[in-house]
Amino acid sequence: MLDESKNRLLTQVGPGTPMGGLLRRYWMPIAAVSEFDGKSIKPVRLLGENLTLYKDLSGTYGLVDRHCPHRRADLAYGFVEQCGIRCNYHGWLFDQDGRCTEQPYEDVAQPQANFKDKIRITSYPVQTKAGLIWAYLGPEPAPLVPDWEPFSWKNGFVEIVFAEVPCNWFQCQENSIDPLHFEWMHMNWSVRLKDQVGPYSPRHLRIEFEEFDYGFVYRRLREGMSESDPMWTTGRVCLWPNTLFTGDHFEWRVPIDDENTLSVTWAFTRVPKEREPYVQGTIPAWHGPVRDAEKAGWISSHIMNQDFVAWVGQGVVADRTKEHLGSSDRGIILQRQRFLSDLEAIARGEDPKAIIRDPKVNRSVALPVAERKLLVDGLTQAELLAHPILGHHYAGDYVFQAGRPAEVAAAFKEAMGI
Ligand code: FES
Ligand SMILES: [Fe+2]
Repeated sequence: MLDESKNRLLTQVGPGTPMGGLLRRYWMPIAAVSEFDGKSIKPVRLLGENLTLYKDLSGTYGLVDRHCPHRRADLAYGFVEQCGIRCNYHGWLFDQDGRCTEQPYEDVAQPQANFKDKIRITSYPVQTKAGLIWAYLGPEPAPLVPDWEPFSWKNGFVEIVFAEVPCNWFQCQENSIDPLHFEWMHMNWSVRLKDQVGPYSPRHLRIEFEEFDYGFVYRRLREGMSESDPMWTTGRVCLWPNTLFTGDHFEWRVPIDDENTLSVTWAFTRVPKEREPYVQGTIPAWHGPVRDAEKAGWISSHIMNQDFVAWVGQGVVADRTKEHLGSSDRGIILQRQRFLSDLEAIARGEDPKAIIRDPKVNRSVALPVAERKLLVDGLTQAELLAHPILGHHYAGDYVFQAGRPAEVAAAFKEAMGI
């Protein structure tokens, strides 16, 4: 349980809030590179700020205020030029560093005034990595965009999947350190959703949590499982500060504002050995729905949609003054304590956890990966089909989220040789 002030402290992300300040010290994935194949501007709301993400005609990305500093027109309806984005109302032009580089009428009428030199638009650094576009809203100097090891794995089909989930990010991230829900929310509930009453999944007997440089590891031992099982020896990763990493996919919980979260998944599926060498061209990206259009409720058919049901069910901002934590929630408590102590570290002028600034460190940064050997070395089609976890990812439809477009499914099948 948390008192109301701590709950507010951990959940509020807007400018000037302590947790908003903490999260601004990390790069956030906000879009996919391939989204800009067919457009040049995307409105983005991030950490309570309304922004415009664009790619100009020279290929440079910029992230600026949503509103033009002249008379506040919406730059999401502007247009890009060779360098920068132009407001469609009176043509003021801004570059990626926030400079105003043209004011078409002022430049003619009063060139000596150099009015444009007095104008700045809020702008933030943007980088691309792993097919994602990352934004940094924090103080300079910015750290490095983490180069997590799977980003350079070979022979994989990667897809990027978004969903907008209408609740606070922190309850989404608490799901990243909640091993027990796997048994009930994903296994047993799925049995009941099929109108069956059993058999239920093997029960959790033990769970363990350990902190490491880039987050926490959780490990689980379930009925019938040997202690040499990689779920017990390696486990899964609650990656700092807002991510779940399961070995072959990342799920970022990116705060849109206090009441909405952008779920961003980067999913790697290793092609079977028969399909090597496989080099992916474009990494496709798609948005999945969260509401069920027919049943007037939430979609529950896919793994992450089930998670979304839990998150939104906790309320727009979960009221942690009313919760009752048990021994299964030790990870939840550890995570909260770490965030609270990181807020103190920031107040002392230090970096919070898992900030990477050294380029020598930021080379294919290794993380705990239960199935690393299989994901890196690969399996044959027959071996993949027989694998209890990877088999589902390889053979079936996309298991994590509903709504994969037909063209992405076709590209996936082509890559896998299905
Ligand atoms: S409002 Fe943007 S140029 Fe006038
Ligand atoms: Fe889950």
